[in-house]
Amino acid sequence: MPSAGHVVIYSAPGRINLIGEHTDYNAGFALPIALPERTTVAYRPDDSTALVVRSDREDEPVRIALDTVPGDVDGWAAYVAGVVWALREAGHRVPGGAMAVSGGVETGSGLASSAALGCAVLGAILSATGTELDRVGQARIAQRAENTYVGAPTGLLDQLAILFAQRRRAQLIDFRDLTVDSVPFDPGAAGVALLLIDSRAAHRHAGGEYADRRASCERAAAALGVPSLRDLPGPQALTALTNSVDARRARHVLSENQRVLDAAAALGAADFAAVGQLLTASQQSMRDDFQITTDHIDLIAETAVHAGALGARMTGGGFGGCVIALVQASRVGAVGDAVRASMRRCGRREPTIAVTHAGRGAGD
Ligand code: GLA
Repeated sequence: MPSAGHVVIYSAPGRINLIGEHTDYNAGFALPIALPERTTVAYRPDDSTALVVRSDREDEPVRIALDTVPGDVDGWAAYVAGVVWALREAGHRVPGGAMAVSGGVETGSGLASSAALGCAVLGAILSATGTELDRVGQARIAQRAENTYVGAPTGLLDQLAILFAQRRRAQLIDFRDLTVDSVPFDPGAAGVALLLIDSRAAHRHAGGEYADRRASCERAAAALGVPSLRDLPGPQALTALTNSVDARRARHVLSENQRVLDAAAALGAADFAAVGQLLTASQQSMRDDFQITTDHIDLIAETAVHAGALGARMTGGGFGGCVIALVQASRVGAVGDAVRASMRRCGRREPTIAVTHAGRGAGD
């Protein structure tokens, strides 16, 4: 354990889910990468009974008692307090001290900034106390903080993506047995760019829509007598469902699982044209079956494809946030210009558009 006064630095990236949306809580598959942007925590443990947290994005520090319980702290610091609570609940030691957070991950864009904060805080505390905990165990604690302390009923995608990420690779996650296989993801080497288009229409999922989609999937699985939608033999099983909305939601989950596996295989062959088509098919399924996109997001994705992108889709929980597009390097300018022009034409905010790549996972 570091001596008193020693500062532990730990950071965690945001994530882009390349494909596999709303599959995590259905024991399915997803294929995320880490963003190069990271949230960094500087932690100076001491003998006090509270953690005092400052963020470079907030004016006031927040004091979190080590014996905090859900309901004590809200706002951004709830993600920190939630980790303190979940660690102690799991029997781990958490020293008090001072913590400074500098956030490099855009918030409200569906890039898992809250999971980045949670995983960075968790890593800093584990590292300060010399506690060994495998990455799946860490992901579960960070998820519990978000589910039970913050009250957002999210799955394990963000935490596993952040903890397992590797440079120039995507992670194929199987949420049934919580295993992670990495596949190459280096579009730049094939003359292709990954564009991240932030609509700047904030998304939120502590609210009703996310929980509503989750409930639909659970109802569909229960009606078909299986523990999760993953256990169905194929889409033909869905014809037995009498609730047509639930059937569409379930159809997205099943078709999306297959697209994830197809995308991982295509990445293995560096076939970005095939991956692009899968992204576009995923966008259509999220639009028509799962109904988590917005007109604004659909327009960005469709404009990118019309302007020559190999494929485009919304990434993240939905109802706003970011679109990703795979684009031949020579078409990056044209696709960006077309998207900006279409946003101007319909009076939307100017999106931020940048070429990005797969960065490393959480660490010091
Ligand atoms: C959010 C949640 C994840 C996952 C995605 C949708 O990012 O935090 O657990 O469900 O939405 O794929």
